[in-house]
Order: sequence, then C-alpha cells, then structure tokens
Amino acid sequence: MNVRKAVIPAAGFGTRFLPVTRSVPKVLLPVLDTPSIHYMVEEAAQSGIRDIAIVISEGQEALTRYFNPNAKLEKALASQGKDELVQRLRAISDMANITYVHQAKALGLGHAVLMGRDFVGDEPFAVFLPDDLIWAEKPTIRDMTAIYEQHQGSVIAVREATPERVPNLGIIDPEHLAGNLIRVKRMVEKPRLEDAPSRLGVIGRYVLDPQVFSELENGKPGALGEIQLTDAINALAQKKGVYAYEFPGVHIDVGVPSGLVKASVYEALHRGDDDLRQWLRGLLDDRK
Ligand code: UTP
Repeated sequence: MNVRKAVIPAAGFGTRFLPVTRSVPKVLLPVLDTPSIHYMVEEAAQSGIRDIAIVISEGQEALTRYFNPNAKLEKALASQGKDELVQRLRAISDMANITYVHQAKALGLGHAVLMGRDFVGDEPFAVFLPDDLIWAEKPTIRDMTAIYEQHQGSVIAVREATPERVPNLGIIDPEHLAGNLIRVKRMVEKPRLEDAPSRLGVIGRYVLDPQVFSELENGKPGALGEIQLTDAINALAQKKGVYAYEFPGVHIDVGVPSGLVKASVYEALHRGDDDLRQWLRGLLDDRK
C-alpha cells in the first residue's frame, strides 16, 4: 500500500528554546524566514503525501494560522502589485490537507504519535520530527516510502553520530544489507556510550507500519512517564522487519538555538547571500 498520510508531532514544550517558546510554538521559529514546520509539510508534499495531521497542544493555535489562507494580507499585497508574493503565500495553504490533533498532556513523542491513530487508520504512515531539517537532492521521506513499499516493513532514518551525541539519541543495532539499507535488530533509547550497539542514531523521519499503534498502546511509560516511540519500534522489530536508511544530504538539528542559527546561515548561503558570506568571513578573520 502507498504511503499517503503523515503525522507531525509538534506538541512539546520546547524548553530548550525558552523564553521564546512561552508564546511562540517552537516549530514556528524561522530558519531564515521560513518556519521549520513548513519544511516538513513541503517534504511530505514533494513525496506525494498530502494528508497531514499536526499534533499540537493548548496555546499553539498560531500554528494553525500559518497554513490557513490570509485573505486580508493577500488583498493588501495584491493592491500593492505584489502578485508574485500572493502566489507564494497561496502555495503554502495549497501544499497539503492539514488536520490538527490535540495532545492534552505532554506524555512524550510516542503518545503524540498515538494521537494520530484515528487520522491514520490501518495504513502505513510517515512521521516527521520538525527538529530535524534535511537538505537533500531528493526528499528523504520519498526514498523511505520507496523502501517501505519494496520491503513491507517500517523504515527509520539514521546517521552516524559523534560519541558525545550517542547518549542523547535512539541507537540501532544494525545488520548492514545493500548500500544505505540496514536491518534493525533492536533499538535502544539514549544508551551509555559503552552500551551502545552502534553509533547509528535515529533522526526524525519514519515510515511506520500501523501496527506500531498497538505497540504504543501496550508500551509501559519510561522513567519520566513518557511513552517512547523507540520502545514501540523496537517491539515491532522483534516481530517483523524494521529497516534503517542511512540518508544522504545535510542534516541540522534545529531543536537547539545554535542549530537554528546554523540552519539559517546554511539556508542563506544556499540561496546565494554573498553579503552574509563576506560578513561571516570578516567576523572569523577578526577573531583569529
Ligand atoms: P522533544 O523531546 O525535542 O521535546 O520532542 P520538545 O518539547 O520539542 O523540546 P525540548 O526538549 O523541551 O526543548 C521531540 C518531538 O516530539 C514532540 C515535540 O514537539 C517534538 O517535535 N512532542 C514531544 C510532542 O508532540 N508531545 C510530547 O509530549 C513530547
């Protein structure tokens, strides 16, 4: 079955971005001029996934406004002759059919994904974590849905992590198949470096079998009372094939302030901002 739906959990507190996340949802913080949630919806749409549920919490209603048409703004821009800008704004609302699902309590990523169960139904679906931005020639999730369709097993994106990062990530026990494809023997959440079965860390792109919902429902909450997605996928891996994809491209974790700065700089340089390039060079030279 083709992957047609996606769930994007965005209901976390975003504590690493306090104080700004007191009033602005983290996924609306801009990478240059575009919020991270936009990149997720765009990647989904470019991969043929147009039905998307965004999981939000109380106080995050600004998020819903981002994807809604804004007739007043469009009218004002049109009267100034800014038709191209109007088209660009309309394209944002037209990218996908978005549903908002509420998570009443922040019980963790696994619980947030579980909130998407009614929306997803009994079909495979994609999950995007808006903290993980990827610049690649082809959308990462498109490659992953192709793997799902070929192997009929869930697929998670992984990348080699530095030793310092390993204790902060979900880590897989890998069996390397062909090319970038790996079979997942098991997964552990935030292991100590010495206990980690590899350095391949999970990055926030998943294509999941709907059976993961039963695993999430049956899963026991961890130490912080959170329901872990890693545990549910690990349970799945013990029953049927789960695959990992070592994806190509540039990845930046925008879930921390310095990552958001890096991503903004990367995006600006990618768009050819020579003024910024020169300014950065000057800044670094002055610091030598
Ligand atoms: P994080 O663990 O990064 O939490 O969640 P966070 O709230 O985004 O940020 P910090 O750690 O407090 O700074 C990973 C993803 O899961 C979502 C988050 O919105 C983020 O996209 N999430 C997390 C939920 O939707 N609900 C939760 O209960 C927890």
